[in-house]
Amino acid sequence: MGVLDSVVTKAQATIPMRRQVQGMHLIQKTKHRVLGHHRPRFVEEPIPDVDEVSLTEIDVANPFMYRQGQFGPYARRLRDEAPVHYRAHSPFGPYWSLTRYDDIVAVDKDFERFSAEPQIVIGDPPDGLDIEMFIAMDPPRHDQHRAAVQDVVAPQNLEEMEALIRSRVAEVLDDLPLGEPFDWVDRVSIELTARMLATLLDFPYDERRKLVRWTELAAASASATGGTPGFDETYEGVAEMAQSFSELWHDKAARRAAGEKPGYDLITLMQMSEDTKDLIHRPMEFLGNLTLLVVGGNDTTRNSMSGGVVALNQFPEQFDRLRADHSLVPKLVHEIIRWQTPLAYMRRVATQDTVLNGQFIRKGDKVVMWYASANRDERKFEDPDEFVIERPNARNHLSFGIGTHRCMGSRLAELQLRILWEELLERFADIEVVEEPAYLQSNFVRGYTSLMVTLTPLG
Ligand code: HEM
Repeated sequence: MGVLDSVVTKAQATIPMRRQVQGMHLIQKTKHRVLGHHRPRFVEEPIPDVDEVSLTEIDVANPFMYRQGQFGPYARRLRDEAPVHYRAHSPFGPYWSLTRYDDIVAVDKDFERFSAEPQIVIGDPPDGLDIEMFIAMDPPRHDQHRAAVQDVVAPQNLEEMEALIRSRVAEVLDDLPLGEPFDWVDRVSIELTARMLATLLDFPYDERRKLVRWTELAAASASATGGTPGFDETYEGVAEMAQSFSELWHDKAARRAAGEKPGYDLITLMQMSEDTKDLIHRPMEFLGNLTLLVVGGNDTTRNSMSGGVVALNQFPEQFDRLRADHSLVPKLVHEIIRWQTPLAYMRRVATQDTVLNGQFIRKGDKVVMWYASANRDERKFEDPDEFVIERPNARNHLSFGIGTHRCMGSRLAELQLRILWEELLERFADIEVVEEPAYLQSNFVRGYTSLMVTLTPLG
């Protein structure tokens, strides 16, 4: 039995009749397309130094740019010589790159000329997995969908969550080995985000690592962002996620019907809102909303948790300042998110012929807003490659985007990072990076796959 057949069988076991038809259709379509489709595979090769290539040869969407430390120099050259740059050939098709802060702000705010539909990554997701997420919808549809779920991160909810987040952070930190190397990515960054996601969703706590696995698969396929998961693996993960989330929905509905007090989790909030209370009957939208919240809050916050440790090791005098003054933590959080820029870009499509900073862009062209470059734009940030906790305008970074789609979870991400650093400074005198970090293969997520550190407790 093929992988897709087994997915069909699994889906039949759990998805009600009406949706089976839709599901089968989707899977058949996928099967059909897969048989005759070219899917990109990426083999890592050393990227030449930027001054050895011509402008037209520059392809900043190469998924090894960040891993090889080449994104910075390439983006700087584009900012200086071709801030609106066209790359005619790439594994993801032709695309424009925007690398200057001001151009990106203008485009991100202009949803009428630059549409977020149908995707916000540079490539295409695996066929059949084009689930509906409001990050990839334009107003007015976007606004209705966003309004329906944004209460989950409303200030009052965040206040409710703070004590719980702090206690979970404390549990994780108190369990870490002292004076011997361990992987920070696995033991801290992944563990904390998994716990947070399980809390947000009221998902079975012991199964929380599944959430991490599914979201990694959903965000990292080769065709979408140049990552490593293959088609079957991605499909299997998403099918399992769909099944699990719909079971969770039904389980919660039954518990509430039996008189249980409603909680503050995402699914309950969806069930209590007029706009989303029947979302389960719109499976692709249901899955899209949940995936977006889970993916949005996973890789991003996780890699900021690792990025902060890397930054403070590269700039030890900044670590000294922080140790001497813990009230700098809120500023530290903004600078970590600027410096790391966990998502390198968002993609738009021009809805009409248009001129941008002197370049003629045709209707239908892909336009990539490289936030990772905007955050290092010398025109906006002084000495942008330096990590400076007290940088006066750090919070003007574009890591959360700007405009209609500005990150819905920004406050939650900042809260998690603030609590993490407050609790770290209470416990440890040093967090020393003892090996060169390993980086993710992707043109979208700027991530660490391992970060070996040694902790020194306070004296
Ligand atoms: C949107 C980054 C954390 C949920 C976005 C966008 C970016 C982003 C760049 C698109 C902005 C645009 O197109 O202008 C980040 C970063 C995070 C983070 C860097 C952590 C440091 C979170 C968390 C959640 C979340 C914790 C979940 C609670 C969302 C959602 C959207 C979004 C739902 C779609 C908003 C819309 O389309 O209106 N995020 N995010 N994010 N993010 Fe985040």
